Amino acid sequence: MSSQPILSVRNLERRYGAFIGCTDISFDVWPGEVVAIVGESGSGKTTLLNCISGRMERSAGTVCYRMRDGRFPDLGDLSEAERRFLARTDWGFVHQNPADGLRMRVSAGANVGERLMAVGERHYGNIRRTATDWLERVEIAAARIDDQPVAFSGGMRQRLQIARNLVTHPRLIFMDEPTGGLDVSVQARVLDLLRMLVADLGLAVVIVTHDLAVARLLSQRMIVMKSGRIVEQGLTDRVLDDPRHPYTQLLVASIPES
Ligand SMILES: Nc1ncnc2c1ncn2[C@@H]1O[C@H](COP(=O)(O)OP(=O)(O)OP(=O)(O)O)[C@@H](O)[C@H]1O
Ligand SMILES: [Mg+2]
Repeated sequence: MSSQPILSVRNLERRYGAFIGCTDISFDVWPGEVVAIVGESGSGKTTLLNCISGRMERSAGTVCYRMRDGRFPDLGDLSEAERRFLARTDWGFVHQNPADGLRMRVSAGANVGERLMAVGERHYGNIRRTATDWLERVEIAAARIDDQPVAFSGGMRQRLQIARNLVTHPRLIFMDEPTGGLDVSVQARVLDLLRMLVADLGLAVVIVTHDLAVARLLSQRMIVMKSGRIVEQGLTDRVLDDPRHPYTQLLVASIPES
């Protein structure tokens, strides 16, 4: 692991009018690590994720990102064009609903190829070959390459969204409940795939989930939120096996025994 964080969040706050979406949020993300943000519905997880991925304006605080050239600017100091370029290349964003992260009426191959073209790939044969490769990596038959995601099942759509995000070899992926909309049986397969790919590619991931089992399976570090604030953070195993904050203890106690 590198000795410098890839993302550094300090005193982040987001208000909706007088209402506090999240506040007093500080944490780092290190290259190659998976950080899970957990907490009940309405605790501010999505608000936080959207703020640190530059998708939402924050009300206060800083979010610094380590660029490939070593610079560490606040996202707010980047130009709109630089931010969009990062979002298309260095970062991925996996939405809970695949329809929000895919173009549903263009082919699966084009959904993957489009991201490649954004990083300058122009050769049709290469794009098609890489897209085929990635479909296979996410267990979609290469024969489906010309089909549109509207013709895919929920699990296939989610796997396609993952391929679309990973094809550019991003360094940091944001995920908001990536398995939240899937059947339990399908969830397990997508989670397994995510775990494998993240490890293979050495990705840094910030994943929002209300499911502690997902956090346990995927993350090395956990942040627990309640009412817009971090109440506990630490190594996932430590937090789940020895929760210190009463709210975390309650969360952990409510997991069904398996
Ligand atoms: N656009 C908005 N305008 C006003 N309030 C908002 C807006 N978006 C979110 N909120 C409020 O901010 C709080 C946190 O919402 P957020 O969506 O971040 O929660 P969450 O932890 O992601 O919940 P869930 O698990 O249900 O997705 C909630 O009380 C919500 O009502
Ligand atoms: Mg949410």
